[in-house]
Amino acid sequence: MPQLRVLIVGASIAGPTAAYWFARAGAKVTVIERFPHLRTNGQNIDIRTVGVTVMRRMSGLEEAVRAKTIPLAGIGFVRSNGRPYGIISTTGDPDQQSLVSEYEIYRGDLSRILYDRTASHPNITYIFGEQVASIQQHGEKGEDSSVMVEFANGSPAAEFDLVVGCDGATSRTRAIGLGVGVRDHLVPTGSWAAYFSIKQDLLGAGDNIGKAYNAVDGRFIAAAPDPWGVNRVVMIKHQPPTHGRDATESFREAMKQGEDTLKKFVAQTYRGAGWKCDEVIQDMMKAEDFYASEIVHVKLPHLSKGRFVLVGDAGYAASTGTGTSLAMAGAYVLAGEVCKHKGDLAGALRGYEDVMRPLIDDMQKVPRFLPAIFTPQTAWGLWLRNTVFAFLCWSGILELTQRFFAGSFANTDRYQLPEYAWEE
Ligand SMILES: Cc1cc2nc3c(=O)[nH]c(=O)nc-3n(C[C@H](O)[C@H](O)[C@H](O)COP(=O)(O)OP(=O)(O)OC[C@H]3O[C@@H](n4cnc5c(N)ncnc54)[C@H](O)[C@@H]3O)c2cc1C
Ligand SMILES: *[C@@H]1O[C@H](CO)[C@@H](O)[C@H](O)[C@H]1NC(C)=O
Repeated sequence: MPQLRVLIVGASIAGPTAAYWFARAGAKVTVIERFPHLRTNGQNIDIRTVGVTVMRRMSGLEEAVRAKTIPLAGIGFVRSNGRPYGIISTTGDPDQQSLVSEYEIYRGDLSRILYDRTASHPNITYIFGEQVASIQQHGEKGEDSSVMVEFANGSPAAEFDLVVGCDGATSRTRAIGLGVGVRDHLVPTGSWAAYFSIKQDLLGAGDNIGKAYNAVDGRFIAAAPDPWGVNRVVMIKHQPPTHGRDATESFREAMKQGEDTLKKFVAQTYRGAGWKCDEVIQDMMKAEDFYASEIVHVKLPHLSKGRFVLVGDAGYAASTGTGTSLAMAGAYVLAGEVCKHKGDLAGALRGYEDVMRPLIDDMQKVPRFLPAIFTPQTAWGLWLRNTVFAFLCWSGILELTQRFFAGSFANTDRYQLPEYAWEE
């Protein structure tokens, strides 16, 4: 059987994980990334449930991740004057995680670990600064022959047996491969997030408790200690859609104008919000690793079309919290099903969909009530949240309730990912 040629688009989390498993399936893998280099910015993401399972099945990965995990013992919620009123801590048991995971790691570090593990493999080639211009499926239904791909930035057109879109929630490759618009299948959550590092220590040296603060109008801000820098900050603004107008419209408009305008927009949103917001936004204007995005869900009726398939946020973004683990699981399952259904790609893609669908549905279901908890809109909602929250922390009830927080925080054993017989 000739070696399977796989094109993977996007080198963040889903892409390099898929490259690892496709190489183990005996394929020849090309990964293209739109940016000229590996993107290493971003804040904490965590590895949970099926993500932990996949990590443990990749040799040496757990050790590499542990060496880079953020020493975060918990997150303390503070009032405007900085006084804490409640702390969420880790459970200390990676198989039974709370809201703060045992495997809390910076996105850039995880991406770097996955890239380093795959870049030197003889059957994996990375090309940076490249993206797909067109995808031509030959067969009637695109199932019985290879795919011709043209690139936008100079790489010669080439044939592949399978094209895997791993280019994130607003995937352009998805639009090309499925023949839809870029915003089709996006479900807005009415939230956006900004991530960056600051040079001042808001936490107190040696304190490994992150700090989180809420202001009215759904403004959330948190700062975490960074052992390799000073503090990393995340801001999440949530506003339910009003009068059918998408609440993130003004954010997206600012984004189109470039980073400076976007920073000004974020600063304007948080100015005068209390706690250390004003100092933070001053530093944000100077931050070099600023990254912001709209938070969306991606809901597709099918994950593939012919020989084009989606993995990670491009196929099933589930908003913050579960995206990384879903992406890692999806990459593993797709390559595993291809390995299992040798010579039958259509069967493999059906297998991928069958295994992933219940997982995706479950993980996308979670955050319905989270905005009310994390980003209350009104002073009254905020007071209620804080009061209830302080009581729950004080009484220890929170430890218990966290465990019932549905799929995304559930234990590792809840989903059994299939085992596959790999080539390598
Ligand atoms: C720079 C960055 C910072 C992030 N920071 C956070 C964070 O702090 N907290 C959090 O919860 N989540 C963050 N995320 C999202 C998080 O990584 C994902 O939700 C999750 O890990 C799933 O990853 P993914 O690989 O499916 O998609 P993504 O992480 O979104 O990666 C998509 C990759 O595809 C590349 N790409 C985009 N378009 C194209 C194209 N047309 N052709 C080729 N390549 C393309 C992007 O540059 C990126 O490298 C961040 C993502 C990025 C890219
Ligand atoms: C690379 O692919 C070739 C051809 O399938 C295979 O023989 C070889 O074992 C692969 N190399 C590695 C390190 O997996």
